[in-house]
Amino acid sequence: MQDQALSVIHKTMDEQLGRKHYPDGFPTLPEVPTGRYFDPRFEALEKEHLWKKTWLLACLATELPKPGSYRLFEQAGQSVIVSRGKDGEIRAFHNTCRHRASALLLEPQGKAMRFVCPYHAWGYSLEGKLVSVPDAHDFACLDKSERGLLPVRVETWRGLVFINLDDNAEPLADFMAPLASQTEGYPLEKLVVKDRIFVPMETNWKTAYHNFLEIYHVSTVHAKSIAPFLDSSSFVVALLANGHSRFATRKRKGDTIFKTDLTIPEDTGEIFRQCTVALPTFPNTFFALDPIGFTMQSFWPAGPGKSVMEARLLGWESDLPQDRDYWTKMRTMVEDILAEDLELFGSIQRGLESGLMPKVLMGYQERALYWFEEEVDRRIGVDRIPEDMRVAQVLGDQVSR
Ligand code: FES
Ligand SMILES: [Fe+2]
Repeated sequence: MQDQALSVIHKTMDEQLGRKHYPDGFPTLPEVPTGRYFDPRFEALEKEHLWKKTWLLACLATELPKPGSYRLFEQAGQSVIVSRGKDGEIRAFHNTCRHRASALLLEPQGKAMRFVCPYHAWGYSLEGKLVSVPDAHDFACLDKSERGLLPVRVETWRGLVFINLDDNAEPLADFMAPLASQTEGYPLEKLVVKDRIFVPMETNWKTAYHNFLEIYHVSTVHAKSIAPFLDSSSFVVALLANGHSRFATRKRKGDTIFKTDLTIPEDTGEIFRQCTVALPTFPNTFFALDPIGFTMQSFWPAGPGKSVMEARLLGWESDLPQDRDYWTKMRTMVEDILAEDLELFGSIQRGLESGLMPKVLMGYQERALYWFEEEVDRRIGVDRIPEDMRVAQVLGDQVSR
């Protein structure tokens, strides 16, 4: 992010710090129907029109270092192979054999120069071609050229690999364009995965994601862990097109919660040293660009009232022992902070499902939650959503360009 953007952010923060009333001209946020968080009809709409049509984070390009490296994407009811070919290209295929539909790969990651089905050993090339069939003469009408793996769209943005099950979806670069200037000066492409945590959660994926879209709860839930390091009252939000947002919060004492003597990449912009810049990325991923590295969290559905958080700890390539120690400690710290949030999730879900609250209320500090909910409806198609579960579209004029 450029110096000019930094000074705009500080100016907005100063205005924010002096604010004593609801901002003039900002729309009143209508209440949000709670059926969105437990009604199976809403879950079915999401399954058909959100998860199958939106760009979904599958992995980092650095997780596929060599030809044959692969990772399985197994979320939102899908199993997709994301793999690097001999030509260096990243490709994606449904993890489904074209004989009798067995999964081809069972291990979540690894190296395979050919995909061989564990059932009857049909073999596919890294380009998805069916290349070998045992006893092929026993199939009267087998045309190998018609039985290749079913491809899935895959594109890479700044080292992040996304898949999309919709052949007609907009290009990934267009979808991510609103985040481009926000990440300038942060070497995203160099990040590597240091550790990964899967956390089952007793709440809807949107409710869990909400928790990362505001810092209103930080001074209560994280009073001792995060709150001392953040100047919460300086929290500013830019609502961005495509349901994304950008948050910025001043660090206290120029310090970072993840204090360490590790070196940070020289090409990291000043903004990321002075402020915690977080980028909620539609539909379900949250990360805050700390120069040391950060946790990238994605929230996946696992039923109307259940979800899974996939948290990747991302940092810089290094074999130094202090680096390994740091990430071990970091994992414990992340788990402790998440535990503070998770303690409330089950009770929130029960409260939403209780029938006592047909709608919930969101305030100005929670506008990114509302913006996210609006985009969910736009992606599904507002007219498809039963009226009693829709959110009103009110924030379109508030988008930063
Ligand atoms: S199902 Fe894959 S070879 Fe039979
Ligand atoms: Fe939290």
